Amino acid sequence: DLKRKSPDAMFRSALRKLPEHRTATELEMIYDEILHINALKELSNEIKKQLTKVIQFEFHQQVGTTLFHQGDEGRSWYVILSGVVDVLIHGKGVVCSLHEGDDFGNLAIVNDAPRAATIVTAQPNCQFLRVEKFDFVKILNEVEAKTDRLKEHGKDVLILEKNSLKSRSGSMADTLTPSNYKYSIARGTVDKILEHILRYIQPWVLTGMEDSMEDFIITYKLFTDSKHLCEYLLKQYRAGDSLKKGVVYFVVRWSHIHTYIFHEDPDIQSFLKVDTNFIKHISENPMVAVSGKPGLLNRRSSNNGTSGASQVVLTVGTSVQRYPMSKQNGAEPIHDSDKVLLKIYDWNNTYTTVKLPISATVSFQIIAAACEKLSNSPSDFKLVELHENHDTNEIPKRQTSVATAVSLNSRLYLTTTGDHPYLVNKQSASKTIEASHMETVSSLEIAYHLCKHNWNLMNNIHILEFLFKTCGGHKFKWTTSNLNVMARRFNQLAYWPPTEICLCANINKRVQLLRKFIKWDTYLKMYHDMFGFMAVMIGIGNQAVSRLHDTWDKLPSKYRKMVQGFEGILDPSRNHRNYRLFVASTESTRIPYFPLIMKDLTFMQEGNDTFKDDLVNFEKMVITLLDINVTTSVDNLLETTKTAGTTKKYAITCPVITNQVVLNEMSNTVEPKRT
Ligand code: CMP
Repeated sequence: DLKRKSPDAMFRSALRKLPEHRTATELEMIYDEILHINALKELSNEIKKQLTKVIQFEFHQQVGTTLFHQGDEGRSWYVILSGVVDVLIHGKGVVCSLHEGDDFGNLAIVNDAPRAATIVTAQPNCQFLRVEKFDFVKILNEVEAKTDRLKEHGKDVLILEKNSLKSRSGSMADTLTPSNYKYSIARGTVDKILEHILRYIQPWVLTGMEDSMEDFIITYKLFTDSKHLCEYLLKQYRAGDSLKKGVVYFVVRWSHIHTYIFHEDPDIQSFLKVDTNFIKHISENPMVAVSGKPGLLNRRSSNNGTSGASQVVLTVGTSVQRYPMSKQNGAEPIHDSDKVLLKIYDWNNTYTTVKLPISATVSFQIIAAACEKLSNSPSDFKLVELHENHDTNEIPKRQTSVATAVSLNSRLYLTTTGDHPYLVNKQSASKTIEASHMETVSSLEIAYHLCKHNWNLMNNIHILEFLFKTCGGHKFKWTTSNLNVMARRFNQLAYWPPTEICLCANINKRVQLLRKFIKWDTYLKMYHDMFGFMAVMIGIGNQAVSRLHDTWDKLPSKYRKMVQGFEGILDPSRNHRNYRLFVASTESTRIPYFPLIMKDLTFMQEGNDTFKDDLVNFEKMVITLLDINVTTSVDNLLETTKTAGTTKKYAITCPVITNQVVLNEMSNTVEPKRT
């Protein structure tokens, strides 16, 4: 009987049978047919074989038949054998049509989420292949990465990639939540990515979508702006109930992640004022109250109407660099609106001070303010940084965060073109620094304070500063002051061993000091302060120290072996493989080695375009900040009982000489070249 029918009719009648009634020949025939179906092209032959046993036939004669509604529970996956369907989304209408060979309905069943759209037949006599959720999950969940392209009006708007990778929130989320999100966002339009996140985010539940939302919140400035984001969220909030919860949750997380940047952004602030219902809804969100941080709405209003900006006395250009002490020893972050004191010299080494926000630009604010005080005409002048080693560089006109960006021990000069040779840093650090005699203080105590200060500085860094730094902060009109301070801290710690050791004329004391440095570094490593550890290690390896053969010869071999071990971790070869392995082997990193994070971010930033075929390359945003949230608190550090205030102060300020020529000379003086 079968033989007399057309192949097409035979195929259909085989499909109409209950799967368990299909004969071997029928299964083979189904297999041959589905080999040619576009939607199944990427599947392995094995999976296609399994599909032949579960696939079913569905037929709709009428135009306008609804297969399912947006918001429904997902029960099956469809492939169009013939005909056309329309995809409808609330508030948008028909966003696209799907044709023969296309598939749909996978999102909801893979993710255990409601249907993202309504599907209606747009032609008479539509034929579908249908796979029930149970079979789909069993068979297709194991499928290698599969790409899913969502179209609207003929254009790709969202490209999803099925991933078998674990969610970043770790194994907890994987085992606790059955509805772990299985697709990651590869590319998409800003609005569609947002819509997707808002639809699938589940407040209080850790799904993979939580990570995507955070990535979006952290990186959105790369591909859109606050104003657009706000408008979109408000539109979705007002459109109906389906995304309301998602929008509220998004805004709450946004304010948590961006903290003061969120509260200081005028676009966000005016957006929050537009809709009183919205504000009310957000402030009723339990997370707003739960977090001990200042609430979303009462931001800095506690200042009784005085200007929100606090003042930091951060003096630059003195011979010894000071950190923003008045912000409680670096215990608080520097905000863009904070005012700093800049000491600016002119060619005859007299100086003037100007007080400007850290976000002030060189050309329009700093030079202008300094020239006004010195009664010069700003148009002729440049701002030049004179380093301790007498090198100079002009600070670019549009640069901001000057106070934190200049290097240790350098001075700022106001000069006209070409008079750089005048500049002599007479008050160079090498003339004013004296040995600290910190070798007499307990190693644990110093290490504790070093680590604690590093930790404070790290916590001051806003997560967005990484982004601003690697992608060009001026584009975002935001500064990277706290990151700059951290970078300077790295240099300070790296110049600390050569400074102290070369200041020490007595060989026995020098040996003792070198031992101390190695011990301090051991403690930093023990505290998982990889930042401090690497910096001090670089300092011990400084040529001014490494050439001190007499000192090294007298060092007990135990210490030399320790240094050799540490040097292994420092080895940059194979993309810092040793360091990465070491960090992976420890349970926690309290303070990561920032230069490496910056390197990774820059690599990622330069190696990937932000947009690909007009779509936001969201995959790139995902790699962006993988490693940064690695903080554990310092509370459980072994605090020493007899802490002297001077030790703490020293660990924060530790004055250093950064001029390598001077350090080499000092090193030669304490230990002349062997003949
Ligand atoms: P699901 O959410 O299960 O149900 C509706 C389906 O429509 C969805 O899976 C997608 O497979 C499909 N679809 C096609 N285009 C779009 C689109 N632009 N937005 C959302 N869903 C779409």
